[in-house]
Amino acid sequence: MDMTLADVEKDIKTRLQQGATSRKSAMHTCVVATADCDLRVMVLREYCSETNRLRFHTDSRTPKVTAIAGNPSVAVLAYDQQGKVQIRMRGTARIEQDGPVADAAWAEATNFAKRCYLAQQAPSSAVPEPTSGLPQWAEGTNPADDEVAPARDNFAVLLIEIAQFDWLYLANEGHRRARITPGEDGAEPDRTWLVP
Ligand SMILES: Cc1cc2nc3c(=O)[nH]c(=O)nc-3n(C[C@H](O)[C@H](O)[C@H](O)COP(=O)(O)O)c2cc1C
Repeated sequence: MDMTLADVEKDIKTRLQQGATSRKSAMHTCVVATADCDLRVMVLREYCSETNRLRFHTDSRTPKVTAIAGNPSVAVLAYDQQGKVQIRMRGTARIEQDGPVADAAWAEATNFAKRCYLAQQAPSSAVPEPTSGLPQWAEGTNPADDEVAPARDNFAVLLIEIAQFDWLYLANEGHRRARITPGEDGAEPDRTWLVP
C-alpha cells in the first residue's frame, strides 16, 4: 500500500528523533551546509517535532559560526542508506553561546565530550605540526569537572529552525518524493508529492 503525505511527515519525525537519540541511527550524523557554500558533518543532538528545530553542538570559534552570523540560511542533509531515505532540509540557523539551551546542553555533555572545547587555538588555525589542539595534559584523558570548566567559554549550540523538508524514498517499484513545509505558528503544514 502506498504511503500518504501524513505517513511521510511521521517518517521524517521518527527518523530525525531516532537520529538525535541513537548513535546507531544513520541520521545521527547530518551534513550541515552554510550560505558560504561550505558543508560539514555534525552530530544531531536533538530534534523537536513541535518547533521543527534541530540542535547541534559546536565550538564558538569555528568558521561556520562566522558564516551563520553573516547569513543564517542553512541546509541540512540526512541519509539512511538501509532505509533508502534521504531528507533534505532548509532552515534558519542561530548560534547560542549563553542561555538555558546552551547551559542545559553543556550540563548534559560528558567530560570526554567537553574536552574537545579545550583547544587552545581556534579550530581552523594553521599550525606547523599535526595536533589535536588540546593542551598536553588533556591528551588521552577523561578530565575532571574543574579541568573542563574553562572549555564552556568555547561551547555553543547551533539551533536550526527547519522551514522545508524534502523527503525522497528509493524503491524498485517506483521512487517517491514529497515536500513538507511546516506552517507558521502551529498552522497546518503544506504537503505535496513531487516527481522524484
Ligand atoms: C562524524 C563526525 C562528526 C562530527 N560532529 C561534529 C559536531 O557535532 N560539531 C562540530 O562542530 N563539528 C563536528 N565535526 C567536525 C566538522 O565536520 C568540521 O570539521 C568542524 O566542525 C569544522 O567545521 P567548520 O570549519 O566548517 O566550522 C564532525 C566530524 C565528523 C567526521
